[in-house]
Amino acid sequence: MKKLLVTIDGPAGAGKTTVSRETARRLGYAYVDTGALYRGLAVVAAENGVGPGDEKGLARIMENLTLKFEKDEKGDSRLLANNRDITDLLRTNEVSMLASAVSALPAVRQWLLDLQRNLGRDGAAVFEGRDMGTVVFPGAKAKFFLTADPAVRAKRRHFELAAAGREIAYEKVLADILIRDTNDSTRAVAPLKPAKDAVLLDSTDKTVEEVVDAILAVVREKME
Ligand code: C5P
Repeated sequence: MKKLLVTIDGPAGAGKTTVSRETARRLGYAYVDTGALYRGLAVVAAENGVGPGDEKGLARIMENLTLKFEKDEKGDSRLLANNRDITDLLRTNEVSMLASAVSALPAVRQWLLDLQRNLGRDGAAVFEGRDMGTVVFPGAKAKFFLTADPAVRAKRRHFELAAAGREIAYEKVLADILIRDTNDSTRAVAPLKPAKDAVLLDSTDKTVEEVVDAILAVVREKME
């Protein structure tokens, strides 16, 4: 059986994380959440008082920062910034917005490009992000673009945040998702868009299992 690289791109809240994780689990592949890398940089920048408009400050941070994924004893992926576990700091609304802002900068995308490609060099991995199929792994054999109605995406994100103890009004979550969509899909470098050879999937009325089954059917075909 061929070991493939599977890429899953799409806007915020489309269900990419759950679907990518489950796809990886069922294939016995590694799962790589590339949004965590942009979030990791955003966390460290914020800690150092560097905003997304301060390109010099960001360059200094990138020069001195090593981001690395590591598995914990449960097999869950943790993100280390210069060997400090920052996983629990990644999923706030503020970090989402800051990650989206810094991710528009070409220097930031370039900085993360080699790191991402290195993580994918052995194949047998599911990569989740915005530009996996278009820029980071244009040669990947199994590409997917996952979308859902904005209202449904906001509802899912709202639920996720609430489950993590962060009560934010649904309207605010929806507004922020729409801002991030616009940021991510209108930036000049590596904008969010489906690769020409990506399979488009709409998860609005589908369960996670239905989406994963649809992905696996395509992946298995490509493995033969
Ligand atoms: O996927 P997640 O919501 O964690 O990503 C956070 C932000 O990082 C996104 O809004 C996007 O701006 C950026 N990102 C990106 N390219 C990727 C993954 C994430 O620009 N491959």
